[in-house]
Amino acid sequence: MGTIERRNGMYPELAGKHALVTGATRGFGKAIALNLARQGVKVIVNFRRSMVEAAEVVEEIKGFGGEAIAIRADVGKLPSLEKLFNRITEEWGQLEIVVANAAFGVPGNMMDATPKYWDVTMSASARSLLDMSKLAVPLMTNNYGRIISITSDGGQKVLPGYGIVGAAKAALESVTRGLAYELGPKGIVVNGVLAGLADTKSSRSIPGAIDVMGHAKFHTPLGRIVEPKDIAKVVAFLASEQADMICGHFITVDGGRNIVG
Ligand SMILES: NC(=O)c1ccc[n+]([C@@H]2O[C@H](COP(=O)([O-])OP(=O)(O)OC[C@H]3O[C@@H](n4cnc5c(N)ncnc54)[C@H](OP(=O)(O)O)[C@@H]3O)[C@@H](O)[C@H]2O)c1
Repeated sequence: MGTIERRNGMYPELAGKHALVTGATRGFGKAIALNLARQGVKVIVNFRRSMVEAAEVVEEIKGFGGEAIAIRADVGKLPSLEKLFNRITEEWGQLEIVVANAAFGVPGNMMDATPKYWDVTMSASARSLLDMSKLAVPLMTNNYGRIISITSDGGQKVLPGYGIVGAAKAALESVTRGLAYELGPKGIVVNGVLAGLADTKSSRSIPGAIDVMGHAKFHTPLGRIVEPKDIAKVVAFLASEQADMICGHFITVDGGRNIVG
């Protein structure tokens, strides 16, 4: 553990803490898991289907001396989450950090969404934050608690082709604020990251993704679209003691795209 502290040293207070990162097989989740592990955090690399990729992330973490365990769970299904938390209880008996990163959504028009698709999207992308928080709080016994959600512009704006994921993100943001209010008095700090567009598997599935990315890059003052490591850095900051007094907020990480009309 000391090796990792010396290697990175950005947030030494995080060394030895325990984190669950949902959807940590690729994209933002993978970068978040790797960066927390570099701070000396022991990480649950959650996956739903991508078992091989999850094992690879665990190996990468172990490769630099970190600790990680891959555990399958569909965050949209409460019984699956309960099994995940039973396993965390068996393995560690405590948890200080939850990063609600996984989201599910099928690109398309809102008018085409079926009730079933609404339910699956809402469960995986929004209700999961509430379900996980209920399960995590009893494990946050170490006088330290951080819950961090990941949202997008789609929670507040219409993103063509984003379907009802935007509605799920709006719900996720509201749950984040509600949890911040209810858990703040317990010393648990709840915040989120509002991420700009990045080139990941999920964003590539949105119709016209390549053109949208080119457009976003052109209109971004910092000259490029977001990369997963940009999000991972801010998640680690929110997980750290540096963010002690930030409560119920979303930090926008988009290279300035949002300030341009
Ligand atoms: N990419 C962007 O431009 C962008 C912008 C703003 C916000 N975001 C948000 O950032 C988060 C990560 O996005 P990403 O682009 O990194 O996605 P991604 O590369 O497609 O990765 C999605 C991850 O979520 C997992 N996952 C999906 N459904 C799951 C479920 N029901 N239970 C557990 N795991 C599940 C996937 O694992 P399996 O393969 O095992 O299913 C995978 O690890 C999402 O909340 C997304 O809405 C993304």
